[in-house]
Amino acid sequence: MAIDKLRRFVGDIATLVDSGVNEAGLLEQGAHALRELIRVDDWLPDAYVQPSVERYQQFLLYADARERFSVVSFVWGPGQRTPIHDHTVWGLIGVLRGAEFAAPYARNGDGTLRQTGAEVRLEAGHVEAVSPGIGDIHRVRNAYDDRTSISIHVYGANIGAVRRSTYSPDGPPKPFISGYSNHTLPNLWDLGKEQHH
Ligand SMILES: [Fe+2]
Repeated sequence: MAIDKLRRFVGDIATLVDSGVNEAGLLEQGAHALRELIRVDDWLPDAYVQPSVERYQQFLLYADARERFSVVSFVWGPGQRTPIHDHTVWGLIGVLRGAEFAAPYARNGDGTLRQTGAEVRLEAGHVEAVSPGIGDIHRVRNAYDDRTSISIHVYGANIGAVRRSTYSPDGPPKPFISGYSNHTLPNLWDLGKEQHH
Protein backbone atom coordinates (compact mmCIF):
# COMPACT_ATOMS: atom_id res chain seq x y z
CA MET A 1 0.00 0.00 0.00
CA ALA A 2 1.81 3.02 -1.32
CA ILE A 3 -0.34 5.41 0.75
CA ASP A 4 1.87 4.55 3.76
CA LYS A 5 4.41 6.96 2.22
CA LEU A 6 1.97 9.83 2.76
CA ARG A 7 1.17 8.64 6.29
CA ARG A 8 4.87 8.52 7.15
CA PHE A 9 5.33 11.98 5.67
CA VAL A 10 2.56 13.61 7.72
CA GLY A 11 3.99 11.86 10.80
CA ASP A 12 7.40 13.34 10.04
CA ILE A 13 5.94 16.84 9.63
CA ALA A 14 3.96 16.50 12.90
CA THR A 15 7.13 15.42 14.72
CA LEU A 16 9.00 18.35 13.20
CA VAL A 17 6.32 20.87 14.22
CA ASP A 18 6.16 19.32 17.72
CA SER A 19 9.94 19.70 18.09
CA GLY A 20 9.66 23.50 18.19
CA VAL A 21 12.49 23.87 15.66
CA ASN A 22 12.77 27.40 14.22
CA GLU A 23 11.39 28.18 10.77
CA ALA A 24 14.71 27.78 8.96
CA GLY A 25 15.16 24.32 10.46
CA LEU A 26 11.57 23.43 9.76
CA LEU A 27 11.88 24.42 6.08
CA GLU A 28 15.17 22.56 5.69
CA GLN A 29 14.06 19.34 7.38
CA GLY A 30 10.56 19.56 5.91
CA ALA A 31 12.08 19.95 2.42
CA HIS A 32 14.12 16.82 3.04
CA ALA A 33 10.99 14.87 3.99
CA LEU A 34 9.05 16.28 1.00
CA ARG A 35 11.84 15.38 -1.44
CA GLU A 36 11.68 11.84 -0.11
CA LEU A 37 7.87 11.77 -0.57
CA ILE A 38 7.96 12.95 -4.20
CA ARG A 39 11.01 10.87 -5.18
CA VAL A 40 8.67 8.09 -6.33
CA ASP A 41 5.31 8.82 -8.00
CA ASP A 42 3.30 5.76 -6.95
CA TRP A 43 1.32 6.75 -3.85
CA LEU A 44 -1.14 9.52 -4.79
CA PRO A 45 -4.64 8.01 -5.26
CA ASP A 46 -6.34 8.63 -8.62
CA ALA A 47 -9.05 10.84 -7.09
CA TYR A 48 -6.39 13.48 -6.31
CA VAL A 49 -4.69 13.62 -9.72
CA GLN A 50 -7.70 14.69 -11.83
CA PRO A 51 -7.43 18.06 -13.57
CA SER A 52 -10.43 20.28 -14.28
CA VAL A 53 -10.81 22.39 -17.42
CA GLU A 54 -12.34 25.11 -15.18
CA ARG A 55 -9.30 25.82 -13.04
CA TYR A 56 -6.33 24.24 -11.25
CA GLN A 57 -7.39 21.87 -8.50
CA GLN A 58 -6.38 21.98 -4.82
CA PHE A 59 -7.04 18.62 -3.19
CA LEU A 60 -6.57 18.51 0.57
CA LEU A 61 -4.68 15.29 1.42
CA TYR A 62 -4.27 15.86 5.15
CA ALA A 63 -4.96 18.53 7.77
CA ASP A 64 -3.44 18.50 11.24
CA ALA A 65 -6.11 18.34 13.96
CA ARG A 66 -4.82 21.62 15.40
CA GLU A 67 -4.44 23.21 11.95
CA ARG A 68 -0.69 23.54 12.45
CA PHE A 69 -0.09 22.22 8.94
CA SER A 70 -1.84 20.84 5.87
CA VAL A 71 -0.81 18.83 2.80
CA VAL A 72 -2.36 19.62 -0.58
CA SER A 73 -2.14 18.12 -4.09
CA PHE A 74 -2.15 20.86 -6.75
CA VAL A 75 -3.26 19.57 -10.14
CA TRP A 76 -2.48 21.87 -13.07
CA GLY A 77 -4.30 21.31 -16.34
CA PRO A 78 -2.48 22.32 -19.53
CA GLY A 79 -1.48 26.01 -19.37
CA GLN A 80 -3.23 26.69 -16.03
CA ARG A 81 -1.81 29.32 -13.68
CA THR A 82 -2.41 31.12 -10.40
CA PRO A 83 -2.78 34.85 -9.99
CA ILE A 84 0.01 36.53 -8.04
CA HIS A 85 -0.74 35.54 -4.42
CA ASP A 86 0.69 35.36 -0.91
CA HIS A 87 0.52 32.61 1.74
CA THR A 88 1.04 34.39 5.12
CA VAL A 89 2.53 31.15 6.52
CA TRP A 90 5.49 28.92 5.64
CA GLY A 91 5.07 26.56 2.71
CA LEU A 92 6.98 23.88 0.81
CA ILE A 93 6.26 23.07 -2.83
CA GLY A 94 7.44 19.81 -4.38
CA VAL A 95 6.80 18.78 -7.98
CA LEU A 96 5.53 15.20 -8.29
CA ARG A 97 4.68 15.02 -12.00
CA GLY A 98 5.48 17.28 -14.95
CA ALA A 99 7.02 20.69 -14.20
CA GLU A 100 5.97 24.19 -13.20
CA PHE A 101 7.24 27.75 -13.39
CA ALA A 102 7.30 29.99 -10.29
CA ALA A 103 7.96 33.74 -10.36
CA PRO A 104 8.76 35.55 -7.06
CA TYR A 105 7.36 38.97 -6.13
CA ALA A 106 7.64 41.39 -3.20
CA ARG A 107 5.74 44.48 -2.09
CA ASN A 108 7.37 47.88 -2.27
CA GLY A 109 7.00 50.38 0.57
CA ASP A 110 4.11 52.06 -1.27
CA GLY A 111 2.25 48.76 -1.62
CA THR A 112 3.02 48.22 -5.32
CA LEU A 113 4.57 44.95 -6.43
CA ARG A 114 7.88 44.13 -8.01
CA GLN A 115 9.15 40.86 -9.44
CA THR A 116 12.23 40.00 -7.39
CA GLY A 117 13.80 37.35 -9.58
CA ALA A 118 13.55 35.38 -12.78
CA GLU A 119 10.84 32.82 -13.25
CA VAL A 120 12.24 29.47 -12.09
CA ARG A 121 11.40 26.13 -13.69
CA LEU A 122 10.78 23.42 -11.09
CA GLU A 123 11.15 19.88 -12.37
CA ALA A 124 9.71 16.74 -10.83
CA GLY A 125 11.54 15.94 -7.61
CA HIS A 126 12.42 19.57 -6.84
CA VAL A 127 11.26 21.42 -3.71
CA GLU A 128 10.90 25.17 -3.15
CA ALA A 129 10.09 27.09 0.05
CA VAL A 130 8.05 30.23 0.77
CA SER A 131 7.40 32.15 3.99
CA PRO A 132 6.75 35.73 5.02
CA GLY A 133 10.40 35.85 6.18
CA ILE A 134 12.04 34.71 2.92
CA GLY A 135 9.34 35.92 0.51
CA ASP A 136 5.87 34.44 0.17
CA ILE A 137 4.39 36.20 -2.87
CA HIS A 138 4.59 34.41 -6.19
CA ARG A 139 2.82 33.36 -9.36
CA VAL A 140 2.88 29.70 -10.41
CA ARG A 141 1.95 28.00 -13.69
CA ASN A 142 2.09 24.66 -15.41
CA ALA A 143 5.23 24.50 -17.53
CA TYR A 144 3.29 22.51 -20.12
CA ASP A 145 0.52 23.52 -22.54
CA ASP A 146 -0.31 19.92 -23.43
CA ARG A 147 -0.33 17.93 -20.20
CA THR A 148 -1.11 17.88 -16.52
CA SER A 149 1.47 18.69 -13.83
CA ILE A 150 1.05 17.89 -10.15
CA SER A 151 2.79 19.36 -7.12
CA ILE A 152 2.53 18.43 -3.45
CA HIS A 153 2.46 21.37 -1.04
CA VAL A 154 2.82 21.56 2.74
CA TYR A 155 1.79 24.73 4.60
CA GLY A 156 2.06 25.91 8.20
CA ALA A 157 -1.73 26.22 8.60
CA ASN A 158 -5.02 24.86 7.23
CA ILE A 159 -4.18 26.73 4.04
CA GLY A 160 -7.60 26.45 2.39
CA ALA A 161 -9.12 28.45 5.25
CA VAL A 162 -6.42 31.13 5.58
CA ARG A 163 -7.34 34.73 4.75
CA ARG A 164 -4.76 35.87 2.23
CA SER A 165 -4.43 38.05 -0.86
CA THR A 166 -4.08 38.00 -4.61
CA TYR A 167 -2.38 40.87 -6.40
CA SER A 168 -2.46 42.57 -9.75
CA PRO A 169 0.73 44.44 -10.72
CA ASP A 170 -0.85 47.87 -10.01
CA GLY A 171 -4.07 47.45 -8.05
CA PRO A 172 -4.57 46.94 -4.32
CA PRO A 173 -4.42 43.42 -2.77
CA LYS A 174 -7.67 41.45 -3.13
CA PRO A 175 -8.66 39.26 -0.18
CA PHE A 176 -9.18 35.57 -0.92
CA ILE A 177 -9.67 32.23 0.84
CA SER A 178 -8.73 29.39 -1.49
CA GLY A 179 -10.86 26.54 -0.10
CA TYR A 180 -10.36 23.02 -1.45
CA SER A 181 -11.60 21.11 -4.52
CA ASN A 182 -12.46 17.85 -2.70
CA HIS A 183 -15.03 16.72 -0.13
CA THR A 184 -13.31 13.52 1.03
CA LEU A 185 -9.73 12.75 1.96
CA PRO A 186 -7.49 9.72 1.33
CA ASN A 187 -7.65 7.07 4.06
CA LEU A 188 -4.17 6.79 5.56
CA TRP A 189 -5.20 4.68 8.49
CA ASP A 190 -6.29 1.21 7.33
CA LEU A 191 -3.26 -0.40 8.94
CA GLY A 192 -4.66 -3.93 9.27
CA LYS A 193 -5.14 -4.12 5.50
CA GLU A 194 -1.54 -3.01 4.92
CA GLN A 195 -0.17 -5.80 7.12
CA HIS A 196 -1.83 -8.40 4.85
CA HIS A 197 0.10 -7.19 1.84
FE1 LIG B 1 1.57 29.60 -3.79
